[in-house]
Amino acid sequence: MEVFQTVSSLQAVLTNLSGSVGFVPTMGSLHQGHLSLIKKALEENTHLTISIFVNPTQFEDPTDFEKYPRSLEKDLSMIATIAPKALVFTPAVSEIYRNKITAGFYSFNGLDKRMEGNSRQGHFQGVAAVVERLFSIVNPDRAYFGEKDYQQLAIIRHIVVQKKLSLAIVSCPIVRDKSGLALSSRNARLSKHHLEQASLLFRSLKQARALYLDKDASTAQHHVNQLFSQAQEWTLDYFCIYDEITLREIDNKKTENVRGFIAAQVGEIRLIDNLSFSLI
Ligand code: PAF
Repeated sequence: MEVFQTVSSLQAVLTNLSGSVGFVPTMGSLHQGHLSLIKKALEENTHLTISIFVNPTQFEDPTDFEKYPRSLEKDLSMIATIAPKALVFTPAVSEIYRNKITAGFYSFNGLDKRMEGNSRQGHFQGVAAVVERLFSIVNPDRAYFGEKDYQQLAIIRHIVVQKKLSLAIVSCPIVRDKSGLALSSRNARLSKHHLEQASLLFRSLKQARALYLDKDASTAQHHVNQLFSQAQEWTLDYFCIYDEITLREIDNKKTENVRGFIAAQVGEIRLIDNLSFSLI
């Protein structure tokens, strides 16, 4: 495994490679979800680049950026065990943004208008800016993203088409713990008590899916509202059933390309999850 801090040192190695390059962009604090992306990228490519970069422009609140968990040594040793030949890029903020730490001015065709876009203004502009910059540095054949951040995935796919970037975006299924909780770096900030309750998100999605398929969207919505109104320490931010490609409401009940999305807060931690509501 080689670790690079500068664009020039990474590119000096990348330009001499032959074969395909898979890329896994991360903000570090790696968990089994990231490792599943790394394993898939290893299977499908000759070479693998992983970036570890906590991107300031995707945080609205500078305190959240400061508080974001960082564990570089641990991350590197996790990578070394499963991808000993990986090229790991750990740039400083100045290497990515030079002197101007600003997000982008992308048009997302409404993909950013709902869900996370409502509560995290500017977040997706920051994600798109850093992802486009990282793609231009690494120039990968394939880049790997988890379905847990489904809206982010849809937005990145949109940017790739809009900017005519020549790489494939590969999505990987959500990895869950035994209780069903979707793995996320934020879970480390949950108290033991809240961690024990956090399977509520996935449980709600599964029950909502069954009600949607058996009855309709409003029955599913009503049920999730009820579950959260009874869960005293939780605040439901949104539960919605959307077309998973356009991320818009569906006019009539359908059983293909439909997905339930949920976000809720417990204590200081906001968690998100999603589940396919399609029949197949
Ligand atoms: O999903 C993440 O970890 C980040 O949003 C990403 C894609 C690495 C961009 O900073």
